[in-house]
Amino acid sequence: MRVDVVTIFPSFFDVLGVSLLGKARERGILDVRVHDLRAWTHDRHRTVDDTPYGGGAGMVMKPEPWGEALDAIATDAGADAAPTFIFPSPAGEVFTQSLARELVQEPHLVFGCGRYEGIDERVFEEAAVRGRVRLISLGDYVLNGGEVAAMAMIEAIGRLIPGVVGNPDSLVEESHEEGLLEYPSYTKPAHWRGRSVPEILLSGNHGAIAAWRHQQQVERTRARRPDLLPDETV
Ligand code: ADE
Repeated sequence: MRVDVVTIFPSFFDVLGVSLLGKARERGILDVRVHDLRAWTHDRHRTVDDTPYGGGAGMVMKPEPWGEALDAIATDAGADAAPTFIFPSPAGEVFTQSLARELVQEPHLVFGCGRYEGIDERVFEEAAVRGRVRLISLGDYVLNGGEVAAMAMIEAIGRLIPGVVGNPDSLVEESHEEGLLEYPSYTKPAHWRGRSVPEILLSGNHGAIAAWRHQQQVERTRARRPDLLPDETV
């Protein structure tokens, strides 16, 4: 999978060099290219923002550097299919595990990280000429810009690429994959600071363990995220 990121803070993405995604990049499974939006400015101050038409607080990202970024990235001969553009935004659709599973099918994602009060609306229209455009929110809160949200999405999507996570079984038994939160996990020692691992997990009875884990998943989901459960189970 190819991923391009356009940002005024490329160093936010340095951490993509470590851990599982770093290894995936080394092995060529994940091709991430981070671009500095200011490379497509032409004034001495490398200006990327200006005051909003119609008035109001804050600054808006100017369309011209974004237009040149799109020209450079989305018409690149190296990328065969039309890209999917993702603009992280608190005004977007909410990012979920099922959206991550949908996006991992795409051969080319381009993340456009806005700052300030957002990006001139015409940039989304311009991107839509070259591929699918999606505004995606991490959740109902406001970050200072799209960088942290893009990082979270790249990690959630990237770990679903076959071969990135060593044991594919670990992708199945986790929160949100079955519509339930994950069951509690324990490791050795069996007794620690007066706390014991639930007896059932030491029993060797796999059927009983599976049933207990499922029950824990339902109980935790009911307590913490009742919105995930179908109405009759709540
Ligand atoms: N940019 C600012 N806030 C955001 C959020 N909640 N999700 C995605 N991008 C954002």
